[in-house]
Amino acid sequence: MERLGCKIIKEKLLADLAKRTQEFVAKGNRAPSIAVILIGSNGASESYVATKCKMAAELGFVHFDYRFDEDYTQDELLSLIDRLNADPEVDGILVQLPLPKHIDEESVINRISKDKDVDGFSPYNIGRLMLGQECFEPCTPKGIMEILRYYGISLSGKNVTVIGRSNIVGKPVAVMCMQKGVDATVTVCNTKTPDLKAHTLSSDVVIVATGRPSTIDASMVRDGATIIDVGVNRITDGSRPKGYRVVGDVDYDSFNGTSCRVTPVPGGVGLMTVVMLMENTYAAALRRAR
Ligand code: GUN
Repeated sequence: MERLGCKIIKEKLLADLAKRTQEFVAKGNRAPSIAVILIGSNGASESYVATKCKMAAELGFVHFDYRFDEDYTQDELLSLIDRLNADPEVDGILVQLPLPKHIDEESVINRISKDKDVDGFSPYNIGRLMLGQECFEPCTPKGIMEILRYYGISLSGKNVTVIGRSNIVGKPVAVMCMQKGVDATVTVCNTKTPDLKAHTLSSDVVIVATGRPSTIDASMVRDGATIIDVGVNRITDGSRPKGYRVVGDVDYDSFNGTSCRVTPVPGGVGLMTVVMLMENTYAAALRRAR
């Protein structure tokens, strides 16, 4: 098995982005800035948001932190988004998902200005992605394409199976793989797919984004295939200081002794997502400065 580690890609991309940011600021521009909104106390979300803010600071970006209790209302959130949309000091807006149940995710995403939607979740940006037009691409799919590029894995003429059809990962990554110039033949599977193995066995690349540990193992793919594991699952583990460990959607160890290439969890796709968020924020700042 070849481990497709992403720390090296992350460091390379961040060094390059830090340099571009310095040059941007040296020309007299205000540093790129991002507003990060977190509602409630979900352990995983808190950890993602902390990583996003830390990386922004390291790059010399400005970050505005908004933390609210679970009972923060939808009206309050929409008003805050309106203010941030109108604020010339803010380039990007990120509302960490999932939101508490009393808040309608769709209304919130729709409210973010298309020019500040650095997550790339709005109908405007997803529509443009679908059409192959320049847009803010969703960060996890964009990171997956960077991993494939870094490791020299061309998708042209290849069979790609995506397992999972979420708006955040499955759907957009499928579109990106089938785009003209990328040229994969794409199959998108879901929980109702009767014979998953039939699809994965005929694939050169399998992208797994189900949120279920051990969705696939080595017996389900052909030797030499590339496996991209998007999963981040917390498994109870009393032997760990935090009482849990993080595993992906792929049975990673089952690939030992094969010639497959597999992204690890942790140390894989998750590292890329945050870098891509920073790239999108930088792109938003460039647009603003033009
Ligand atoms: N929750 C899980 N992944 C993401 C992401 O990429 N962006 C936001 N805003 N929330 C998430």
